[in-house]
Amino acid sequence: MTTIRPFTCDDMFRFNAVQKYFIYSLTLTLQYALTFYLQYLAHWPEYFQVAESCSGHIEGYIMGKAEGHGENWHGHVTALSIAPEHRRLGLAARLMANLEEISEKKRAYFVDLFVRVSNQVAINMYKRLGYIVYRTVLEYYSGDPDEDAYELQALSLVFFATRYWYMDLVVMNTARLD
Ligand SMILES: CC(C)(COP(=O)(O)OP(=O)(O)OC[C@H]1O[C@@H](n2cnc3c(N)ncnc32)[C@H](O)[C@@H]1OP(=O)(O)O)[C@@H](O)C(=O)NCCC(=O)NCCS
Repeated sequence: MTTIRPFTCDDMFRFNAVQKYFIYSLTLTLQYALTFYLQYLAHWPEYFQVAESCSGHIEGYIMGKAEGHGENWHGHVTALSIAPEHRRLGLAARLMANLEEISEKKRAYFVDLFVRVSNQVAINMYKRLGYIVYRTVLEYYSGDPDEDAYELQALSLVFFATRYWYMDLVVMNTARLD
């Protein structure tokens, strides 16, 4: 059985040696800057979650944040990874659903994320979860060679609710003019 629970600072150092691809992916993430992620965790603890087995093995994690101003206020997925042996069980979908729910509670208009254009598995998953390609960011990922990213977005219920409210207002005002 898998439990989704809040991420703690210790989790950054707790990944199981068996999960070598997972560690590789996390190590890459962490190499980006451990302090950077710890600062994120301190700012947006609700956006950091871990999927853990009953024996204490970490099966996956998600990291995110809320950012932007006005109608650009949105949730952002910073990192999402599931250990290879726990894939195709719906874990990423669950972690994404949690992040979207948190974003809606914060009245975010949408959730966005960046993904490598070569990461077809992740792109398919996000599309299945309702995300669309908003734009392509050239050479977003540095490396040899650099790689482009798709920025994917999914609008939230808050977006539609505010639009319906706005449309109601327009209809009411138009009716008054008649
Ligand atoms: C992408 C990733 C997070 C998916 O995690 P997951 O837990 O296996 O995904 P889920 O089981 O929640 O899949 C949800 C849906 O996405 C699609 N999907 C996921 N993995 C897929 C695969 N390998 N092939 C085809 N479709 C896939 C399916 O439609 C799936 O639903 P279904 O199983 O009911 O058909 C995981 O493969 C991973 O950690 N990859 C490496 C890190 C990475 O690429 N992270 C994303 C970077 S932005």
